[in-house]
Amino acid sequence: MLVTGSEILVPARAGKYGVGAFNTNNMEITQAIIHTAEKLRSPVIVQMSEGAIKYGGQDLANIVIDLAKRATVPVALHLDHGSSYASAMKAISMGFTSVMIDASHHPYDENVAETAKVVEAAHALGVSVEAELGRLGGIEEHVVVDEKDAFLTDPDEAVDFVNQTGVDYLAIAIGTSHGAYKGKGRPFIDQARIQKIGSMIDIPLVAHGSSGVPADIVQRFRDSGGEIGDAAGIADDDLREACKHGIAKVNVDTDLRLACTVGIREVLKANPKEFDPRKVFGKAREVMSSIVEHKMGVLGSIGKA
Ligand code: G3H
Ligand code: 13P
Ligand code: ZN
Repeated sequence: MLVTGSEILVPARAGKYGVGAFNTNNMEITQAIIHTAEKLRSPVIVQMSEGAIKYGGQDLANIVIDLAKRATVPVALHLDHGSSYASAMKAISMGFTSVMIDASHHPYDENVAETAKVVEAAHALGVSVEAELGRLGGIEEHVVVDEKDAFLTDPDEAVDFVNQTGVDYLAIAIGTSHGAYKGKGRPFIDQARIQKIGSMIDIPLVAHGSSGVPADIVQRFRDSGGEIGDAAGIADDDLREACKHGIAKVNVDTDLRLACTVGIREVLKANPKEFDPRKVFGKAREVMSSIVEHKMGVLGSIGKA
């Protein structure tokens, strides 16, 4: 069933498990996400960025909404990194049940004002809202505290932000970054900060940049002709720990991008004469489904629907 983000995330926060928020850009990605959720009785969030809306538009939103309505597990359609009030309103008019307003790069007061404006309008329409406080962008463990504090989320500010805006769930900067290069070895994630913020705020917290960039997928990417540097993602155990302390929405895009292209590459490399798109995209869908299944196991959402 198609539900709001809050209907999925409030129980997740209370039950100390995480729910994957997977980015989609086409039908096969959407099927991998929702069919796997159905198979595993897991709630799930499907998210489209502004880029995904530009690429797939209402056609793609309708695919998500249709699959969500026919699913017997809760599914939300969420706007990822909405850049303005207008963008959030457009997504709501397209049928999204959850929107992110990301004004985190603006001065604090502007972030508060923009977020509060979106919250007021979205709530009137029965849609839940995510906002972000702090800066994402990768941070190494050895960076001195003062520098970390400059862009990781400040716990006291987070409390004030939630009180002033009435936002439903809050993305916090905890050291993670978007993409396949999150740091060397086991990338840093500030568990102490998550625990502190989680103890002060009871709404669900959101972790962006949470792909695991699994070594086996990276190897398959290389083996099938892909070129990728020193890729690394967030360790499974680090996500498990974060979900015990307040992280309820866990954003994953890069892992699906890698899995999708690994599937395509492997089919074409093994069968240079193949030109049936169903063979190519079918394999991509299979590899993506295994990523979604693994992530749901790590986050503890299997069997929660
Ligand atoms: O956080 C960003 C997501 O990975 C979406 O990326 O804007 O290229 O669709 P995109
Ligand atoms: P990854 O790049 O780690 O998959 O993060 C995706 C994300 O945060 C989307 O908002
Ligand atoms: Zn993000």
